[in-house]
Amino acid sequence: MKIFAIETSCDETAVAVVEEGVKILGSTVASSAAMHEKYGGIVPEVAARKQIESIQAVLKEALTQAHADWQDIDAIAVTVGPGLIGSLLVGVETAKTIAFVTGKPIIPVNHVIAHMYANFVKSDERDAVSNIKHKTVEFPAISLVVSGGHTELYLMTSMKKLKWLGGTLDDAAGEAFDKSARLLGFGAGGGPAIQKAATTYTKNSKQHTVKLPRPMISDDSLNFSFSGLKTAIVREAQKFKTTKQWSRETIHSFAFEIQEAITDVLVAKTYLATRQYHAKSILLSGGVAANRRLREKMSLAMNRLKDKTMHVPPPALCTDNAVYIASCAFFRGKPTDWHSIAATPDLSVEEPS
Ligand code: KG4
Ligand code: ZN
Repeated sequence: MKIFAIETSCDETAVAVVEEGVKILGSTVASSAAMHEKYGGIVPEVAARKQIESIQAVLKEALTQAHADWQDIDAIAVTVGPGLIGSLLVGVETAKTIAFVTGKPIIPVNHVIAHMYANFVKSDERDAVSNIKHKTVEFPAISLVVSGGHTELYLMTSMKKLKWLGGTLDDAAGEAFDKSARLLGFGAGGGPAIQKAATTYTKNSKQHTVKLPRPMISDDSLNFSFSGLKTAIVREAQKFKTTKQWSRETIHSFAFEIQEAITDVLVAKTYLATRQYHAKSILLSGGVAANRRLREKMSLAMNRLKDKTMHVPPPALCTDNAVYIASCAFFRGKPTDWHSIAATPDLSVEEPS
């Protein structure tokens, strides 16, 4: 079965053609991220306009890569939420039009839940840091989805069955990376900029000077909270600034500590959930799962527990794309009458439908 999938929930316009939920036949992603840089954050109006401008070319490119025509496609999958309304509408209306014209079934997909299905996609790429290769996922599994807008933990008991266990009470992990990057003067560089600066620090420094809190790391819940990190960074930074120690080296030291603080909490909560639910596998996904230090630390933590396998997609499948939308539609999607499909910006991630 070949699924043609569209993802336009935020500032990426992505289309993919995937066979049997695991084999990528074509995948294209266009991003308007650079256009938002001067505004210090995503401008929904600009993102929506770019979606409209890009969708046709991206769609054609994915079909060309897959050597496919509409008659080769068995179903259309589309992200219906959560996300920005203007952006979502572009994908949803495009998918509905294709379904109407071609008569193909259409499958609505929840973007956040779909992220974890990137772990089921075939990839020969070996993870350079934690030495992880594609393996069959054994259930029950604990799935951590960490993106720009979400930090969610799920218990997965089969390819279809999920139970939401906890999530962030305020900022998402990706948001914490993005806001910290801005505070350190990295503009819209976000998580990748913090990762790069942190690596520089580790290589060049002997002493680790900055200390930040690990919010909620010791409580028993499976919830997270990252909003306090910004205040802590500003307060700590002020100390260095008043004593005129605000240097490149100090900024790299902050980046290192920010990455350590966020990843420590993510690892600790996933470890706790894995023990509580006697999980056999751990799945990482979402843009933050591209973070090398998170991959490395999670892998080390899971090695401490016996007989657990950790799964993480290659970085390009962690950040937004349409491959996992197709995979999720294949494994747990329900074809729906196109008339009743609507863009839903606040679609719940706690009660998967
Ligand atoms: O899943 P995603 O592409 O989009 C959303 O659904 O939000 O995630 C984007 C988030 C951003 O916050 C970005 O800074 C973060 O993922 N991210 C990273 C890395 N690459 C992307 N965070 C830390 N380290 C990275 N290497
Ligand atoms: Zn995403």
